[in-house]
Amino acid sequence: MTIATGLPPRLAELPRVSLAHLPTPLEPMHNLTHHTGGAPMVIKRDDCTGLAMGGNKIRQLEFYLGEAVAQRADTLVITGAVQSNFVRSAIAAGNRMGLQSHVQLERRVDRDDELYRNSGNVLLNRLMGATIHAYPDGEDEAGADRNLEAIAADLRADGHTPYIIHLSPGHAPLGALGYVVAAEEIIQQVEAGAPGFDEVVVASGSGHTHGGLLFGLRWLGCDVPVTGVCVRRDAASQRERILARTAEVADLLDVDNPVTPADIVLSDEFLAPGYGLAGSATNEAISLAACLEGLLVDPVYTGKALAGAMDRASKTTDTVLYVHTGGTPALFAYQHELAGEPDS
Ligand SMILES: Cc1ncc(COP(=O)(O)O)c(C=O)c1O
Repeated sequence: MTIATGLPPRLAELPRVSLAHLPTPLEPMHNLTHHTGGAPMVIKRDDCTGLAMGGNKIRQLEFYLGEAVAQRADTLVITGAVQSNFVRSAIAAGNRMGLQSHVQLERRVDRDDELYRNSGNVLLNRLMGATIHAYPDGEDEAGADRNLEAIAADLRADGHTPYIIHLSPGHAPLGALGYVVAAEEIIQQVEAGAPGFDEVVVASGSGHTHGGLLFGLRWLGCDVPVTGVCVRRDAASQRERILARTAEVADLLDVDNPVTPADIVLSDEFLAPGYGLAGSATNEAISLAACLEGLLVDPVYTGKALAGAMDRASKTTDTVLYVHTGGTPALFAYQHELAGEPDS
């Protein structure tokens, strides 16, 4: 890998706070490699970003909180699924920076059991003192954002200065910048002797992680394939989202987009039975990671991405880099499925 001309200069001018423990480890996964019997597998441990159980969203929040602090906001307003890692991470980031949080939890997954509603990320949200609002629809991004505006209006009327982290497309992709930075970190680690790789596999949801990483790698001249494993939408709709995301990043950084349509590779093979629900390959990946590597991955995001990475590794001799984006608190909300117990 030859690289490192530096990231677009505009990036360093945007407000950012330091939240993540960086760099996260980049290391081999010998036992999973042996198990798949195919290509070597290496892992980027972004589950280890530190704050409140870590994950990819901590890198992203460095830029959102940077802007919130610059605007002298005192309250974060954010929406997500009931077991959202982004919501949990935002509350933690807000607490660290002295902001309260109002969070809206959407009904994205058809589940009402006690653990899903109260354990995992929801337990941590409450522990960290957030005010929790409910939103009945999980597939209406624009509606969810409108409701955030209503919550923010009430906060303003009470004398607060809210900062909204929007969900729907059309807002500055600040989160993706965290992964533009991560691309440089990965390349620098390889240059300093960490295991190299020939392709990357990462979960693809809002597209900030996938889009930002792809943008950063291409900008820095690294042309390895990056496969996004769909966790929420099918490959065709996710493709549009990633294309848009990388174009928005280019606009924000005031440079040409180094990502071409041919760079966008997606797999929706592990999406079924749907968002927040794990299929058999995902459950197997969760179990193998735990039993062979002592590595915890979740049913919503990182188990699906690992199933995708293992699938790639079984079909190639090239080294596969799996990006572990966190999400481990959700394991506790899925205790019944994972431990083979009936629902309560
Ligand atoms: C643990 C985890 N991994 C991956 C993702 C997907 O990241 P993105 O939304 O940036 O596509 C999420 C999104 O919430 C997540 O919580």
